Amino acid sequence: MSTQLEINSDLIKYLQDVGYRKDSVVDELETETKELGKVAQMQIAKEQGQFLEIIVKISNAKSCLEVGRFTGLSTLFMARGLPTDGKIMTIDNSDEFLPLAKKYWDKAGVASKIESIIGSGAEVMQSLIDRQHSFDLIFIDADKNNYPNYYELSLLLLPSNGIIIIDNMLWHGDVADVSKNDSQTKKIRELSVKINQDERVEFSLLPLSDGLSFIRKK
Ligand SMILES: C[S@@+](CC[C@H](N)C(=O)[O-])C[C@H]1O[C@@H](n2cnc3c(N)ncnc32)[C@H](O)[C@@H]1O
Repeated sequence: MSTQLEINSDLIKYLQDVGYRKDSVVDELETETKELGKVAQMQIAKEQGQFLEIIVKISNAKSCLEVGRFTGLSTLFMARGLPTDGKIMTIDNSDEFLPLAKKYWDKAGVASKIESIIGSGAEVMQSLIDRQHSFDLIFIDADKNNYPNYYELSLLLLPSNGIIIIDNMLWHGDVADVSKNDSQTKKIRELSVKINQDERVEFSLLPLSDGLSFIRKK
Protein backbone atom coordinates (compact mmCIF):
# COMPACT_ATOMS: atom_id res chain seq x y z
CA MET A 1 0.00 0.00 0.00
CA SER A 2 1.35 3.36 -0.92
CA THR A 3 1.56 5.76 2.01
CA GLN A 4 1.83 9.53 2.42
CA LEU A 5 5.49 10.48 2.57
CA GLU A 6 6.86 12.89 5.13
CA ILE A 7 7.63 16.20 3.50
CA ASN A 8 11.02 17.50 4.69
CA SER A 9 12.70 20.81 3.79
CA ASP A 10 14.55 19.32 0.79
CA LEU A 11 11.30 18.04 -0.65
CA ILE A 12 9.57 21.38 0.01
CA LYS A 13 12.31 23.11 -1.98
CA TYR A 14 11.95 20.54 -4.75
CA LEU A 15 8.19 21.11 -4.88
CA GLN A 16 8.71 24.87 -5.03
CA ASP A 17 11.37 24.60 -7.78
CA VAL A 18 10.05 21.82 -9.99
CA GLY A 19 6.37 21.78 -8.99
CA TYR A 20 5.86 25.40 -10.02
CA ARG A 21 6.42 26.85 -13.48
CA LYS A 22 8.03 30.30 -13.24
CA ASP A 23 5.77 33.21 -14.10
CA SER A 24 7.01 36.80 -13.93
CA VAL A 25 3.72 38.43 -12.83
CA VAL A 26 3.14 35.84 -10.10
CA ASP A 27 6.76 36.08 -8.93
CA GLU A 28 6.60 39.89 -8.80
CA LEU A 29 3.36 39.82 -6.79
CA GLU A 30 4.92 37.34 -4.38
CA THR A 31 8.01 39.55 -3.98
CA GLU A 32 5.96 42.70 -3.38
CA THR A 33 3.75 40.83 -0.89
CA LYS A 34 6.84 39.57 0.99
CA GLU A 35 7.94 43.20 1.41
CA LEU A 36 4.79 43.77 3.53
CA GLY A 37 6.39 41.70 6.34
CA LYS A 38 4.74 39.05 8.50
CA VAL A 39 1.30 39.34 6.86
CA ALA A 40 2.84 37.87 3.70
CA GLN A 41 2.43 34.41 5.21
CA MET A 42 -1.30 34.72 4.43
CA GLN A 43 -0.62 34.40 0.71
CA ILE A 44 -1.34 31.03 -0.93
CA ALA A 45 1.63 29.02 -2.24
CA LYS A 46 2.25 29.39 -5.96
CA GLU A 47 1.95 25.60 -6.40
CA GLN A 48 -1.54 25.86 -4.93
CA GLY A 49 -2.34 28.70 -7.31
CA GLN A 50 -1.37 26.58 -10.30
CA PHE A 51 -3.65 23.84 -8.99
CA LEU A 52 -6.55 26.31 -8.61
CA GLU A 53 -6.08 27.53 -12.19
CA ILE A 54 -6.18 23.99 -13.60
CA ILE A 55 -9.24 23.02 -11.55
CA VAL A 56 -11.12 26.11 -12.72
CA LYS A 57 -10.24 25.15 -16.30
CA ILE A 58 -11.05 21.44 -16.22
CA SER A 59 -14.27 21.98 -14.28
CA ASN A 60 -15.37 24.45 -16.99
CA ALA A 61 -16.27 26.89 -14.24
CA LYS A 62 -17.64 30.20 -15.48
CA SER A 63 -18.41 31.79 -12.13
CA CYS A 64 -16.20 31.58 -9.06
CA LEU A 65 -16.45 33.02 -5.59
CA GLU A 66 -13.51 33.61 -3.26
CA VAL A 67 -13.62 34.44 0.44
CA GLY A 68 -10.26 35.97 1.45
CA ARG A 69 -8.47 38.02 -1.21
CA PHE A 70 -5.49 39.66 0.58
CA THR A 71 -3.06 40.78 -2.21
CA GLY A 72 -4.99 38.80 -4.79
CA LEU A 73 -2.72 35.93 -5.83
CA SER A 74 -5.36 33.19 -5.60
CA THR A 75 -7.84 35.49 -7.37
CA LEU A 76 -5.34 36.03 -10.17
CA PHE A 77 -4.76 32.29 -10.69
CA MET A 78 -8.48 31.47 -10.70
CA ALA A 79 -9.25 34.37 -13.05
CA ARG A 80 -6.65 32.99 -15.44
CA GLY A 81 -8.42 29.65 -15.43
CA LEU A 82 -11.73 31.24 -16.41
CA PRO A 83 -12.87 31.72 -20.01
CA THR A 84 -12.94 35.31 -21.34
CA ASP A 85 -16.59 35.71 -20.33
CA GLY A 86 -16.03 34.08 -16.92
CA LYS A 87 -16.25 36.01 -13.64
CA ILE A 88 -14.80 35.70 -10.16
CA MET A 89 -16.23 37.62 -7.23
CA THR A 90 -13.77 38.02 -4.38
CA ILE A 91 -14.73 39.07 -0.85
CA ASP A 92 -12.47 40.55 1.82
CA ASN A 93 -13.37 42.57 4.89
CA SER A 94 -10.39 44.86 4.36
CA ASP A 95 -9.56 47.14 1.43
CA GLU A 96 -5.98 47.66 2.64
CA PHE A 97 -4.32 45.47 0.00
CA LEU A 98 -6.84 45.95 -2.81
CA PRO A 99 -4.74 48.50 -4.78
CA LEU A 100 -1.81 46.06 -4.77
CA ALA A 101 -4.04 43.21 -5.90
CA LYS A 102 -5.54 45.36 -8.66
CA LYS A 103 -2.09 46.35 -9.91
CA TYR A 104 -1.25 42.67 -10.54
CA TRP A 105 -4.69 41.73 -11.87
CA ASP A 106 -4.09 44.46 -14.48
CA LYS A 107 -0.57 43.22 -15.23
CA ALA A 108 -1.90 39.69 -15.69
CA GLY A 109 -4.67 40.95 -17.99
CA VAL A 110 -7.42 39.43 -15.86
CA ALA A 111 -8.89 42.53 -14.14
CA SER A 112 -12.04 42.52 -16.29
CA LYS A 113 -13.00 39.07 -14.94
CA ILE A 114 -12.75 40.14 -11.28
CA GLU A 115 -15.34 41.82 -9.06
CA SER A 116 -14.05 42.83 -5.66
CA ILE A 117 -16.46 43.10 -2.73
CA ILE A 118 -15.47 44.62 0.62
CA GLY A 119 -17.47 43.11 3.46
CA SER A 120 -17.78 40.31 5.95
CA GLY A 121 -17.57 36.93 4.20
CA ALA A 122 -20.60 35.37 5.87
CA GLU A 123 -22.81 38.46 5.43
CA VAL A 124 -21.95 38.87 1.76
CA MET A 125 -22.50 35.14 1.12
CA GLN A 126 -25.88 35.28 2.86
CA SER A 127 -26.90 38.27 0.75
CA LEU A 128 -25.84 36.38 -2.40
CA ILE A 129 -28.02 33.44 -1.29
CA ASP A 130 -30.93 35.81 -0.62
CA ARG A 131 -30.56 37.16 -4.16
CA GLN A 132 -30.39 33.58 -5.53
CA HIS A 133 -26.83 33.85 -6.86
CA SER A 134 -25.02 30.66 -7.75
CA PHE A 135 -21.37 29.81 -8.44
CA ASP A 136 -19.59 26.86 -10.04
CA LEU A 137 -16.59 26.94 -7.70
CA ILE A 138 -15.93 28.55 -4.32
CA PHE A 139 -12.48 29.03 -2.76
CA ILE A 140 -12.39 29.62 1.00
CA ASP A 141 -9.29 31.25 2.50
CA ALA A 142 -10.40 33.73 5.17
CA ASP A 143 -10.85 33.71 8.99
CA LYS A 144 -10.65 30.12 10.24
CA ASN A 145 -13.27 30.53 13.00
CA ASN A 146 -15.85 31.10 10.27
CA TYR A 147 -14.82 28.11 8.15
CA PRO A 148 -17.83 25.97 9.22
CA ASN A 149 -20.15 28.87 8.28
CA TYR A 150 -18.43 29.41 4.94
CA TYR A 151 -18.75 25.69 4.20
CA GLU A 152 -22.50 25.62 4.88
CA LEU A 153 -23.12 28.88 3.01
CA SER A 154 -21.08 27.55 0.06
CA LEU A 155 -23.27 24.48 -0.20
CA LEU A 156 -26.25 26.83 -0.62
CA LEU A 157 -24.47 28.77 -3.35
CA LEU A 158 -23.47 25.76 -5.48
CA PRO A 159 -25.46 23.54 -7.83
CA SER A 160 -24.93 19.79 -7.88
CA ASN A 161 -21.37 19.11 -9.10
CA GLY A 162 -20.19 22.47 -7.74
CA ILE A 163 -16.75 22.58 -6.15
CA ILE A 164 -15.50 23.97 -2.85
CA ILE A 165 -11.76 24.29 -2.19
CA ILE A 166 -10.65 25.23 1.32
CA ASP A 167 -7.11 26.30 2.19
CA ASN A 168 -5.15 25.71 5.42
CA MET A 169 -6.92 22.47 6.26
CA LEU A 170 -3.68 21.04 7.74
CA TRP A 171 -3.01 24.33 9.61
CA HIS A 172 0.80 24.09 9.81
CA GLY A 173 0.38 20.51 11.02
CA ASP A 174 -1.44 21.65 14.18
CA VAL A 175 -4.56 19.63 13.29
CA ALA A 176 -2.62 16.44 14.09
CA ASP A 177 -1.03 17.80 17.29
CA VAL A 178 -3.25 16.87 20.27
CA SER A 179 -1.63 19.57 22.41
CA LYS A 180 -2.97 22.29 20.07
CA ASN A 181 -6.50 23.22 21.08
CA ASP A 182 -6.91 26.88 20.20
CA SER A 183 -10.21 27.81 18.60
CA GLN A 184 -8.90 28.05 15.02
CA THR A 185 -7.27 24.61 15.13
CA LYS A 186 -10.40 23.11 16.69
CA LYS A 187 -12.66 24.65 14.04
CA ILE A 188 -10.51 23.31 11.20
CA ARG A 189 -10.34 19.84 12.78
CA GLU A 190 -14.11 19.79 13.36
CA LEU A 191 -14.78 20.90 9.80
CA SER A 192 -12.59 18.13 8.35
CA VAL A 193 -14.48 15.52 10.38
CA LYS A 194 -17.78 17.05 9.30
CA ILE A 195 -16.79 16.95 5.62
CA ASN A 196 -15.64 13.34 6.05
CA GLN A 197 -19.07 12.37 7.37
CA ASP A 198 -21.17 14.65 5.18
CA GLU A 199 -23.32 12.61 2.76
CA ARG A 200 -24.00 15.74 0.71
CA VAL A 201 -20.43 15.80 -0.65
CA GLU A 202 -17.45 13.83 -1.94
CA PHE A 203 -14.00 15.06 -0.99
CA SER A 204 -10.25 14.67 -1.01
CA LEU A 205 -7.94 16.19 1.61
CA LEU A 206 -4.77 17.14 -0.26
CA PRO A 207 -1.45 17.85 1.51
CA LEU A 208 -0.54 20.59 -0.97
CA SER A 209 1.29 23.32 0.94
CA ASP A 210 -0.84 24.00 4.06
CA GLY A 211 -3.51 21.50 2.97
CA LEU A 212 -6.40 21.90 0.56
CA SER A 213 -9.78 20.30 1.10
CA PHE A 214 -11.23 19.57 -2.32
CA ILE A 215 -15.00 19.00 -2.23
CA ARG A 216 -17.68 18.12 -4.80
CA LYS A 217 -21.31 18.77 -3.96
CA LYS A 218 -23.30 15.69 -4.98
C1 LIG B 1 -5.22 34.07 4.17
S1 LIG B 1 -5.66 35.63 3.59
C2 LIG B 1 -6.15 35.34 1.94
C3 LIG B 1 -4.97 35.06 1.04
C4 LIG B 1 -5.31 35.11 -0.43
N1 LIG B 1 -6.20 34.05 -0.79
C5 LIG B 1 -4.08 35.09 -1.29
O1 LIG B 1 -3.90 34.20 -2.13
O2 LIG B 1 -3.22 35.96 -1.11
C6 LIG B 1 -7.17 35.89 4.45
C7 LIG B 1 -7.91 37.16 4.10
O3 LIG B 1 -9.21 37.05 4.70
C8 LIG B 1 -9.64 38.32 5.10
N2 LIG B 1 -10.66 38.17 6.15
C9 LIG B 1 -10.50 37.89 7.46
N3 LIG B 1 -11.67 37.81 8.09
C10 LIG B 1 -12.62 38.02 7.15
C11 LIG B 1 -14.04 38.06 7.17
N4 LIG B 1 -14.73 37.86 8.30
N5 LIG B 1 -14.69 38.33 6.03
C12 LIG B 1 -14.02 38.54 4.87
N6 LIG B 1 -12.67 38.50 4.79
C13 LIG B 1 -11.98 38.26 5.91
C14 LIG B 1 -8.38 39.02 5.58
O4 LIG B 1 -8.53 40.44 5.48
C15 LIG B 1 -7.31 38.45 4.63
O5 LIG B 1 -7.05 39.34 3.57
